[in-house]
Amino acid sequence: MNRPLVIGNWKMNLDFVEAVHLTQQLSVLLKNQPSAHTDAVVAPPFVDLRSVASVLESERSSVALAAQHVSAHESGAHTGEVSLAMLTRLGVAWVLVGHSERRAHYAMSDDVVAATLRTVVRGAVNAVLCVGEDEAVRDASEHESYVAAQLASALAGLEEKSRALVTVAYEPIWAIGTGRSASAAQISEMTLAIRRELSALGFADTRVLYGGSVTSDNAATTLLDGGVDGFLVGGASLKADSFTAIIRVCDDCYAVSANRR
Ligand code: 13P
Repeated sequence: MNRPLVIGNWKMNLDFVEAVHLTQQLSVLLKNQPSAHTDAVVAPPFVDLRSVASVLESERSSVALAAQHVSAHESGAHTGEVSLAMLTRLGVAWVLVGHSERRAHYAMSDDVVAATLRTVVRGAVNAVLCVGEDEAVRDASEHESYVAAQLASALAGLEEKSRALVTVAYEPIWAIGTGRSASAAQISEMTLAIRRELSALGFADTRVLYGGSVTSDNAATTLLDGGVDGFLVGGASLKADSFTAIIRVCDDCYAVSANRR
């Protein structure tokens, strides 16, 4: 089992005051009961990043900072966009790339996903490549080939030195925000297919996360039976206790599996 990674995607929730409050609560909970084995990351909205970074720094928190998106371009006439240099200046160490909500609602094509991923890793920042099928693709039993194509399109030809900066998050669209997480068997099938494709592309060591209605109740089964390396959490990351509960599940599962080795 790889060292677990849990990322909280706050999406378009929490203004900067609320974000500060949540970050303080998270810092206190994780200070009282530090996570020994799990990397924790939060991805607030752009306008909260500065405030969240300040709290994490002043609390000397081990939680790292992510952005939910970035422009593929370096600078210039891109009204409404944010560049990677602006993010790294704020201490952002991770960026989500190609979340299904950006692909579906903001016309983020496979080509733009690939270009954005390159921008991120070129800046020595960790990229979380999000992939996943919608219900129609799954009903047609094309989910494996669909996700394999998403991976190949984003990762093929990426320089070898950048590969360690890539993490993959499998998020079936039908499981996002629905309370209907994919089953451990479905996740395990997809994790295997994703790892197979990743190996073929030269990414054998890449961590694979699952996202889609993850809670502390389904986290252990998903981690152990689904064979993932952690989670990309939406709704349950908006409360300090539910997010830290997921981190603890990962910590406990990792400790148990390390003892078995
Ligand atoms: P939920 O955990 O709310 O289903 O969201 C998953 C997600 O999209 C994380 O990026």
